[in-house]
Amino acid sequence: MTSSSQKSPLKERDLHETDKIGKEFDEDACDFCHRYKRSGLSRSSKLLLDFIMQEGVLGRSVADLGCGTGGFSIELLKEGAETAIGFDLSSRMIDSANDLAAANGFADRAKFQVGNAAKAELPVSDIVIMDKVLCCYSDWSPLLKNAIGASRAMVGFIVPRDDGIAKLPFRLGVRIVNYFQRRGGNIMFYLHPLKHVDRTLSDSGFAYRRKQASRLWLVFLYSRVQSSNLTPNR
Ligand SMILES: C[S@@+](CC[C@H](N)C(=O)[O-])C[C@H]1O[C@@H](n2cnc3c(N)ncnc32)[C@H](O)[C@@H]1O
Repeated sequence: MTSSSQKSPLKERDLHETDKIGKEFDEDACDFCHRYKRSGLSRSSKLLLDFIMQEGVLGRSVADLGCGTGGFSIELLKEGAETAIGFDLSSRMIDSANDLAAANGFADRAKFQVGNAAKAELPVSDIVIMDKVLCCYSDWSPLLKNAIGASRAMVGFIVPRDDGIAKLPFRLGVRIVNYFQRRGGNIMFYLHPLKHVDRTLSDSGFAYRRKQASRLWLVFLYSRVQSSNLTPNR
């Protein structure tokens, strides 16, 4: 998360959070895209991909919230998902995602668009993912609830490793990072309460399935308890 903006920090701070997120990630879009082209998904994203593949991907629809340059959706399409739709606040991320989908031969099955995933009307999809997105957005509850409402079968997400022995050093690190982010008028990094995240999912009929830590991240998969209305897994 960098900022090479010409505007004064004061003006930056006045921007609405979603504008700030979009603007800041616009600057990262090239890096994200090159990284994916060079080395594919990150280790934590691969863990989530594995979790989802174990539940079944073939013929399923995907909603990728905070999709960035769309690498996760593209990998799911390669594994047999039928369609993918992605939302992101950064227009440059979205442009890269659509280019990347076309370059991989998925132009007709993948669509990425600019939008706030916490408020946008999301198409109902079998698999809803948020790969390192909740930590970028202050208001986790509407974002998660919108994701849950759009999911027929699975909700997968990756959040910072605010858990176990990593908890204290992580919290200290985030405080330091946020001190400098705030001073620069940049976006914050959020550690949302995992207990409440879990309760929101379980109250909405989703059961915890899998969790695994990578060095910096926690990867979660939940699935709908009664999933009789799933698109058939061909
Ligand atoms: C750390 S990046 C991760 C991108 C991608 N999921 C990946 O793992 O490569 C977080 C992304 O979430 C997007 N984002 C954050 N809050 C969002 C929201 N409320 N709606 C849509 N996108 C959001 C940002 O614009 C950014 O592209």
